[in-house]
Amino acid sequence: MRRGLVWVVAALCGLGAARAETPDQRASALVAKLTLDQELTLLHGNFALRAYDAAYGLPPAPPVPGALGSAGYVAGIPALGIPALQEVDGGLGVSVPPDAEDGKGSTALPSSLALAAGFDPRMAYEAGAMMGREAFDRGFNVLLAGGVNLTRDPRGGRNYEYLGEDPLLAGTLDGALIHGVQDQHVLATLKHFAMNDQETNRQFDNALIGEAAFRESDGLAFEIALETGHPMAVMCAYNQVNGQYACANHHLLDDVLRRDWGFDGFVMSDWGAVHSALDINAGLDQESGQEFDPVTYFSTPLSVALSQGLVTRARVDEAVRRILRAELTVGLMDHPPVRQPIDFAADGAVAAQEEAQGLVLLKNHRLLPLSPAIRRIAVIGGDANTGVMSGGGSSDVVPKTLPQLLPVVQMGEGLAGRYTRAILDPDPPLSEIERQAPGAVVRYDPGLYPGAAARLAKWADVVVVFAPKWETESQDVPDLSLPGGEDALIAAVAAANPRTVVVLETGNPVLMPWLPNVRAVVEAWYPGAEGGKAIAGALFGTIDPSGHLPMSFPANTAELPRPVVPGQDAAPGQITPVDYNIEGAEVGYKWFSARHLPVLFPFGFGLSYTRFSFTHLSHGPGLTVSFDVGNDGKVAGATVAQLYLSARNGVAMERLVGFARVALAPGETRHVVLTIDPRLLADFNVAGDDWVMPGGVYRFGLGDSAADLTESLTARLPAQHVAP
Ligand code: BGC
Repeated sequence: MRRGLVWVVAALCGLGAARAETPDQRASALVAKLTLDQELTLLHGNFALRAYDAAYGLPPAPPVPGALGSAGYVAGIPALGIPALQEVDGGLGVSVPPDAEDGKGSTALPSSLALAAGFDPRMAYEAGAMMGREAFDRGFNVLLAGGVNLTRDPRGGRNYEYLGEDPLLAGTLDGALIHGVQDQHVLATLKHFAMNDQETNRQFDNALIGEAAFRESDGLAFEIALETGHPMAVMCAYNQVNGQYACANHHLLDDVLRRDWGFDGFVMSDWGAVHSALDINAGLDQESGQEFDPVTYFSTPLSVALSQGLVTRARVDEAVRRILRAELTVGLMDHPPVRQPIDFAADGAVAAQEEAQGLVLLKNHRLLPLSPAIRRIAVIGGDANTGVMSGGGSSDVVPKTLPQLLPVVQMGEGLAGRYTRAILDPDPPLSEIERQAPGAVVRYDPGLYPGAAARLAKWADVVVVFAPKWETESQDVPDLSLPGGEDALIAAVAAANPRTVVVLETGNPVLMPWLPNVRAVVEAWYPGAEGGKAIAGALFGTIDPSGHLPMSFPANTAELPRPVVPGQDAAPGQITPVDYNIEGAEVGYKWFSARHLPVLFPFGFGLSYTRFSFTHLSHGPGLTVSFDVGNDGKVAGATVAQLYLSARNGVAMERLVGFARVALAPGETRHVVLTIDPRLLADFNVAGDDWVMPGGVYRFGLGDSAADLTESLTARLPAQHVAP
């Protein structure tokens, strides 16, 4: 509504008047007017977050003139109406220090894993639109959001920023999120291209992966996100891919991204991921965060390379044209950001909805939802009296009510730069539990001493233990345990009172040695701005926890493709191979199922307070499949119908080929039709640079997790070739 008004005013002032030329024509016309110096200005940018310089070990520097003070700033050419790029980190909200004018931060979304667990592209669009709106309202025109790296290792420090282990799920949701961002005239950035699937030694990892395996896994996630979201920027990653840095990787940037996938935006580097001015020849268009590079490569070194004939002026023109075309396509010039107050109430509702859909009920042995008759509730641990956990790194969101009350948890020494603290989003579950159980006495114990916690547990009718695990960009976790003695705490509490619910706030799977001894487990991920309310709602049943796991919860680390995270002992700057050929395209559940390895909880798993049935699975025309989903229980709820390819011409395999989140009233049934993308039934054929789907007999399974397929279907399908 507000945005609509701004457009009307802009249109009346002639600012947004319709133009006949395409973004391409307008970009070319601008390029023709630019001097070489002006062009170079557009090809590199600053890290403008002065507030964090010291933490990064960067020398003290004055503020960058014109920059709003965020992660990225690329000066514009005002004389030609080319705006500066004001780039802000995002993905889980707008990541910027509190606003100078109103002193407020922004709305923290839950971890992207909650979004993924909702299996809901519409929610992803809403989340993207919310972030885009807040960025726009703060004056930013680029959101560094759209992370789609697959979970190849459940210890990955940034998995919480991404969308899980399946390319169809991750790509579809990321595309929808990007679409939401860019609909606000804020440019989105698909990242980190490619294979930045672990944080350990991330600037020097050499990710090894065969072409077909890449195209069928991480590549497919990027490809689907590009097709559905049309991001106008892609951020290339720190690591090498098959021996070549991702930002200097001609094959990735030119052959795959542009030629095969038709990307027509620009490639920006990650901060400190450029290694030479000649990277421009491999398809990199813009150097970001130049302070992180030894020199600003896309400035003087690039003009020297031009004068030596190592780079052509045509290539420089092309990079600039791509940047300008992207800006024009998204509307950065015709709809510049307008500062206005953030509508925290509306945006908080988006965060709350995402969390409500993403909470995963992992176990419930007749305890949840909690009965209103409960009189004594013990709440234990996890700073539940203060807030809910968030992940660390560039996607950190400073919440709206800070900085005055920002609770900071010191996480010990040895972590890089500003990633030494965890922000607790200030929506304490304790007060929400008190609010939603007005008739009960609620007591809190911080959980520092298992003995004291057990004593309180004995007193209670029911115990809720909170178990957070902080994870962060720039480091992976060493194992899947809960840190800080939480496992011992839960075990002591459950021994004292088996009517125990564990609420996990984690950015990855964890092991649960105490699982048989507790009655219920809720995975709340990092729950975001309204996390306390959502958790309490799930406990008391005002919310049906309807999330389904976007990543397998393994039984141990020994059976992972890489039992030990590679590169942990690498010397600074030492290039370290990370062999992703071990699992190839068999990421996550595909790996476990091909080897018949039991997991703690399978991909796609999630319980509900009601019961669903899947019936009438049948094959329609072409690659359509239809079925009915019914709510056979007594309360309203939502499930995620998941369709898997289970075998092709007699060869067993497991691939998610379609999904639908279905919300139903008790007794209601809905007919669902899914159309399968043929690439999900095919293999990538390197020689022909296309997808080949063999003709023959295809077997599909339908259910609510990768391990529980209650309906099956066999169909004879003709062969197909699909061009990328
Ligand atoms: C991260 C990016 C982020 C950039 C700017 C890098 O370290 O990998 O995701 O956008 O910093 O903060």
